[in-house]
Amino acid sequence: MSAPTADGIAQIGFGYWGPNLSRNLAAHAAGRWRHLVDLSPERRDKAASLYPQINVTEDLDKVLADETVGAVIVSTPAASHASLARKALDAGKHVFVEKPLALTTADAVSVAEQADQAGLVLMVGHTFEFVPAVRKMKEIIIDAGDIGDVLYIHSQRLNLGRIQSDINAFWSIGPHDVSIANYLTGSNPEWVSARGARYLNETVEDVTFVTVGYPGGILAHMHVSWLDPSKTRKTTVVGKDKMLVYDDIDADAKLKVYDKGADRLDADSYGAYQYRLRDGEMHVPRLEMVEPLATELKHFLECTVTASVRVRTAGTAPAWWPYSKPPTSP
Ligand SMILES: NC(=O)c1ccc[n+]([C@@H]2O[C@H](COP(=O)([O-])OP(=O)(O)OC[C@H]3O[C@@H](n4cnc5c(N)ncnc54)[C@H](O)[C@@H]3O)[C@@H](O)[C@H]2O)c1
Repeated sequence: MSAPTADGIAQIGFGYWGPNLSRNLAAHAAGRWRHLVDLSPERRDKAASLYPQINVTEDLDKVLADETVGAVIVSTPAASHASLARKALDAGKHVFVEKPLALTTADAVSVAEQADQAGLVLMVGHTFEFVPAVRKMKEIIIDAGDIGDVLYIHSQRLNLGRIQSDINAFWSIGPHDVSIANYLTGSNPEWVSARGARYLNETVEDVTFVTVGYPGGILAHMHVSWLDPSKTRKTTVVGKDKMLVYDDIDADAKLKVYDKGADRLDADSYGAYQYRLRDGEMHVPRLEMVEPLATELKHFLECTVTASVRVRTAGTAPAWWPYSKPPTSP
């Protein structure tokens, strides 16, 4: 199947997150955004009142049959992502799907395979790869080698709410931390260890502690919870020479670069190593003022023209990619 040349856009899902996508489509792709599909009459009414110029409907088949539509943006609950993405790809449309792409590896691989075989763009909404502070960490500091080898990453994504019932806390917001760690290390996990606990219900975990091993011995530990007293959105990267703290809640200094570390000295006369602690200055780099979602959507729409992206938006493809078996845990 050849890639579509039509430049129209359809969005599926206008719940909590969908309105952010709609706002950006209206602002940056107004002439191209044609349809919005949602199963909920209330959400359709809301969308129609905000965007009277758009065809707001529950009829996805009719929208997918519209030959002027070349790209579909999916922002529905996670369990529906793989099937909706497949359906849109079947109809010959490029697809942007919110994270996570799917809830099983088999589904993720099969959707990616389908897009690849059809020559269609499939992009997953890993928004944090477009956050200026994350890009700064990656492009300037880590790529430039300023912090030395990355030793470990620690992230916390905590709050009281938004409690979900269909997926656990990690599926809900943990993909952000995994995508940040993959992006920063420029690699993919070698192994994963995860523990979670259900305190509020019997089916999904409210708090999860996930440790991910990357090549070169880099450890990433991710603490994710919707049952926590404080809103925390923090990623700490400890390098051999310097350390970074990205605190998304800190409006004035989202990213801090600490000239801190520990240097090993010669062993003393008893054979025990001595260490010199470095407690140098802290620097706050200037960050671009852009909305990550706008950059992300722009990237997707550009890719639909060049058809240059399959499933990943940044970083390197995993060694097992494409379509062989994913790595197993130790
Ligand atoms: N990138 C980010 O930072 C970010 C932030 C929040 C949510 N998200 C993602 O956005 C997606 C949506 O999350 P949400 O919190 O808005 O969910 P939600 O449940 O609030 O909204 C989903 C909407 O999709 C509609 N819907 C469900 N199934 C449908 C179908 N088959 N066809 C058409 N409409 C359908 C529902 O009626 C609802 O209006 C999730 O994948 C979530 O992970 C991403």
